[in-house]
Amino acid sequence: MPTITTIQDLKDLHERRVPRMFYDYAESGSWTEQTFHENTTDFEKIRLRQRVAVDMTGRSTAGQMIGEDVSMPVALAPVGSTGMQHADGEILAAQAAEAFGVPFTLSTMSICSIEDVAANTSKPFWFQLYAMKDKRFVERVIQRAKDAKCSALVLTLDLQILGQRHKDIKNGLSIPIRPTVPNLIDLATKWRWIAAMAKTKRRQFGNIVGHIDGISDMSSLSIWAAESFDPKLNWDEVKEIKKMWGGPLILKGILDAEDAKMALNVGADAIIVSNHGGRQLDGALSSIRALPAILDAVGDKVEVHMDGGIRSGQDVLKALALGAKGTYIGRAFVHGLGAMGGPGVTKALEIIHKELDTTMALCGETNVADLGRHNLLVPKDFEGQWQSP
Ligand code: GLV
Repeated sequence: MPTITTIQDLKDLHERRVPRMFYDYAESGSWTEQTFHENTTDFEKIRLRQRVAVDMTGRSTAGQMIGEDVSMPVALAPVGSTGMQHADGEILAAQAAEAFGVPFTLSTMSICSIEDVAANTSKPFWFQLYAMKDKRFVERVIQRAKDAKCSALVLTLDLQILGQRHKDIKNGLSIPIRPTVPNLIDLATKWRWIAAMAKTKRRQFGNIVGHIDGISDMSSLSIWAAESFDPKLNWDEVKEIKKMWGGPLILKGILDAEDAKMALNVGADAIIVSNHGGRQLDGALSSIRALPAILDAVGDKVEVHMDGGIRSGQDVLKALALGAKGTYIGRAFVHGLGAMGGPGVTKALEIIHKELDTTMALCGETNVADLGRHNLLVPKDFEGQWQSP
């Protein structure tokens, strides 16, 4: 067993232990993967201001996201098919998040259902929703999230049609896995994954199967999304969903200041600056690069969160110092889950927490609430040259 000190270490184990098609599903972006890659490489362009001889005792990374106490402002992002990265993956990740004191967001496209996650956790989690053509499904799933005492609804706005990820097509991604020769050869080395999967009954999209009408092929995410996601989603519909839900609403997938203002107008409690991990509009700005302009436009009026590209506590610090009130990790926790199940998610959170805490101290700060642009060295063109006219 290698010594694990970074998210990259967890990623390497994830790659070794999980069937290729699920590892690739997580570790891919759409088309050329430019935005997927720039989500991480743009973080590297921002440098930190080292400060010395500052009393660094009594440090705290604790804060709040939409009024909920968090041990650090890092939530687990909604990730589709998490229960295929490891048996019962959503339950294990939710439990790890709960123990660590950070929010867990359950995807509509999860393997473990809302009810299953609620039955296996004791604190409220957040539920992520895709707007569907089947309005009865939307009403019912919102009611199910209310019944499960979910404390926020995260409505995704950037995936009404699915961006193409070449690897998923080439791998023949399907749930369950089809018994083709390449898949069987791959599975022959994934005994750990198979042994855990053999012990669970949760191997289908738990929020969907048995709850939605007129779907011809649930095994293919692309066919399913094309058939059931509502391409007509607009701001009026967002308002209706907000009314139906009646609780804290987080709008995910905002990458433009104009859309951030629209989100503000419909009364979002928070927005997530996000390009869906580079999985949708290839060629869009990285999230960290899009963040400053959105903060400048609405940051004093609505809580602004961000996701995309965070693989370390230094990345979290950079997003917070730019002005984000919260961040999300997707792949970083999925690497932990694929590598080692629940303890792997805890490990990912520990790594990021330690990096955030140490980086904060070496920047001369003792509380995440005090982080600001004064802690950063941002290239002059980082925001400016990308603005639309
Ligand atoms: C679903 O959210 C995906 O990006 O595959």
